Amino acid sequence: MTETTQDTDKRLVAWVRQAAPYIHAFRGKTFVIAFGGEVIESDIAQALIHDIALLDSMGIRLVLVHGARPQIDAEMASRGLTPRFHKGLRVTDADTLECVKRALGVTRIEVEAMLSQGLPNTPLAGGFLRVASGNFVSAKPVGIVGGVDYQYTGAVRHVIAEEIRADLAQENVVLISPIGASPSGEIFNLAWEEVAEAVAVAIKADKLVFLCDAPGLIDKKGALIDALTADEAEDLVAKKTKQAPELLRVLPGSLRACRGGVGRVHFLSRFRDGAMLMEFFTRDGIGTVMTHAPLARLREATGADVGSILALIAPLEADGTLVKRSRERIEMEVTHFSVLEHDGVIVGCAALYPFSSEKAAELACLAVMPDYREVGYGDQLRTHIEARAKKLRLKRLFVLTTRTAHWFTERGFVEEGVDSLPKSRRELYNFQRKSKVLVKAL
Ligand SMILES: CC(C)(COP(=O)(O)OP(=O)(O)OC[C@H]1O[C@@H](n2cnc3c(N)ncnc32)[C@H](O)[C@@H]1OP(=O)(O)O)[C@@H](O)C(=O)NCCC(=O)NCCS
Repeated sequence: MTETTQDTDKRLVAWVRQAAPYIHAFRGKTFVIAFGGEVIESDIAQALIHDIALLDSMGIRLVLVHGARPQIDAEMASRGLTPRFHKGLRVTDADTLECVKRALGVTRIEVEAMLSQGLPNTPLAGGFLRVASGNFVSAKPVGIVGGVDYQYTGAVRHVIAEEIRADLAQENVVLISPIGASPSGEIFNLAWEEVAEAVAVAIKADKLVFLCDAPGLIDKKGALIDALTADEAEDLVAKKTKQAPELLRVLPGSLRACRGGVGRVHFLSRFRDGAMLMEFFTRDGIGTVMTHAPLARLREATGADVGSILALIAPLEADGTLVKRSRERIEMEVTHFSVLEHDGVIVGCAALYPFSSEKAAELACLAVMPDYREVGYGDQLRTHIEARAKKLRLKRLFVLTTRTAHWFTERGFVEEGVDSLPKSRRELYNFQRKSKVLVKAL
């Protein structure tokens, strides 16, 4: 076996191990996955269906909501009709409605067919995905807005959540098209984004996933935001930060869904093969996740936090896990600390000590209050310290630890000798403590 193959194998094993807790946690959870008709025509449609099959095989309950805008436009073009939009919403006259029904019917059949394949060497081999579609969503007319009569363009009137839940309980994948009938029997063309939002809220989905034309939301400097609250997302829009067009279209519904009880809303690229797998099963994800309340608030420490930091680390100093630091030292060095606040209580801390001339920094004093451990706070602090070090353009982050080496190696740190420490830090190394030196390239 060549070195390269061994490396690949190691990475694969590490990935499966990293994914295991998520696989366990997601079993029995409900995800609504929403995508436009562009996805079905794209090169990664097949791969996406395979990923959906994989999620299903892990016991995740899946609702798929699809759109068909390009298919509707193509159908209209073939009949010599010109699409009409007003404020981003299609105006559906009787001829357009015929195109909508045909395009949605064909698209739904194509998705069902893709989900029904069982070719060997694919995640669909040997399994069978039962797909349930139906009249889960009823509609009402949008009506006349700003003098424009939308005719057969509708809005969601009601979602029959119990029927969707019953199908999910039967282990069916539920496939929903954006079309609905009114109690009088008229058919209305719906926006898939709105259907996804309404369904996710009605069934209290754990996740609502939008596959969009961008990797996620970006901040004012153009950097991808990995996690934010609904309030922060609203603020981004209010400040007119430049976001991708599809993202802007799904954002209002996402905010309502988030505030309406959907656990998390994810925005992922529809161009990225395997985007959902990377988002759900890796620690850092690849898109943007939005939650209603902040998971916790991370901020830089101030003088007012010294008492809380001391209280947090005192038991760990007493049992020898952390090196003793005096109150005076913490007071002097408090600006090196970042703290994690939960409901106004400091439940975690970590410090960054840069060695700028050697382009390195020490991550020190990482601690999370025992009652708050194992929910990812330690990892949030570590990620934050890494980001602070990267901002300072430092290239290596090292940590000295006697008891937590594994925790760090599982997060990309590698054991190195004391010689790898910056000179001034090496001189302070306590040979009696025999701490391991772990280093991560940034
Ligand atoms: C290390 C520490 C900060 C982790 O905080 P946390 O909020 O529990 O961290 P996370 O939730 O991100 O990670 C928890 C995972 O790490 C594992 N873990 C915790 N301590 C570990 C250790 N010493 N070695 C290996 N893994 C460890 C947990 O079992 C859990 O694994 P799981 O996700 O597979 O269930 C916390 O345990 C702590 O405060 N320890 C005492 C102080 C310390 O050792 N600091 C490091 C020296 S600078």
